[in-house]
Amino acid sequence: MNRLLDGKVVIVTGAARGIGRAAALAVAKAGASVALTDRDEAAVLEAANEIVSLGGSAIAIPGNVAHEADVARVVGATVERYGRLDGAFNNAGVEQRNTPLHELSEEQWDFVIDINLKGVFFCMKHQIAAMLPSGGGSIVNASSSLGRVGIPNASEYCASKGGVLGLTKGAALDYGMNNIRVNAVLPGVIRTPMIESLISQPQFSALLPALEARHPIGRLGMPSEVADAVVWLLSDSSSFVHGAEIAVDGGYLAI
Ligand SMILES: NC(=O)c1ccc[n+]([C@@H]2O[C@H](COP(=O)([O-])OP(=O)(O)OC[C@H]3O[C@@H](n4cnc5c(N)ncnc54)[C@H](O)[C@@H]3O)[C@@H](O)[C@H]2O)c1
Repeated sequence: MNRLLDGKVVIVTGAARGIGRAAALAVAKAGASVALTDRDEAAVLEAANEIVSLGGSAIAIPGNVAHEADVARVVGATVERYGRLDGAFNNAGVEQRNTPLHELSEEQWDFVIDINLKGVFFCMKHQIAAMLPSGGGSIVNASSSLGRVGIPNASEYCASKGGVLGLTKGAALDYGMNNIRVNAVLPGVIRTPMIESLISQPQFSALLPALEARHPIGRLGMPSEVADAVVWLLSDSSSFVHGAEIAVDGGYLAI
């Protein structure tokens, strides 16, 4: 069994389902104690229970990453329970409303930016404060291929994920000397509830073959494929990887 994270303590946000849930499971299988957080209280409890039932160490701390007090509580409860914080996967996020920019409401802009970008800022702020006294750590932020390139009618989402890349690089410069590594993963289209809900809409389902073909590998990705990259980035095996954009996208950005 792969024990790349033996003895480490890791927070995963948005851990109730999709990529976050797969990552929490993979992180636990790699030997870490995991604090799972999500705004879906029942589902995050279930995800933590699954890890415990498989013999791993996990706690569920429900919370909303867009609320700084919740984020501070999640980090505080993790350190209280496990004594330290070594890693975090800042994954919680929401999708776009598929609206052209000139019809986008301020409310929708704020909704996506508050979760996808400000939420990552709140998480990093409190995680870094917890890592500084214990000698370092590794933070992985969820960006997207769409942090690098656009698609129609998704400007607020693209802006949020581009912003995550900026946050990642800025923090990498600030904290490298403190042994806190900060990197971003850029998934292509991954088969999670977020994507299933998009492609279940009639106007998108017909586009599925083209969406698959848009990935040079010829298919969409699976949550576990992103989770494997996250485990590596959180581990000491990636010790010289810092401020990087790691595409896990079947070649989407290679075109
Ligand atoms: N699925 C993809 O194709 C894809 C591609 C690129 C990037 N991403 C990014 O990866 C991340 C995970 O995506 P996914 O497809 O697994 O999504 P998902 O919708 O399946 O799961 C997201 C999880 O985040 C939680 N969440 C949402 N807002 C939250 C908040 N404010 N506070 C706490 N938890 C919150 C949800 O409850 C849910 O459990 C997102 O940041 C997404 O933008 C996904």
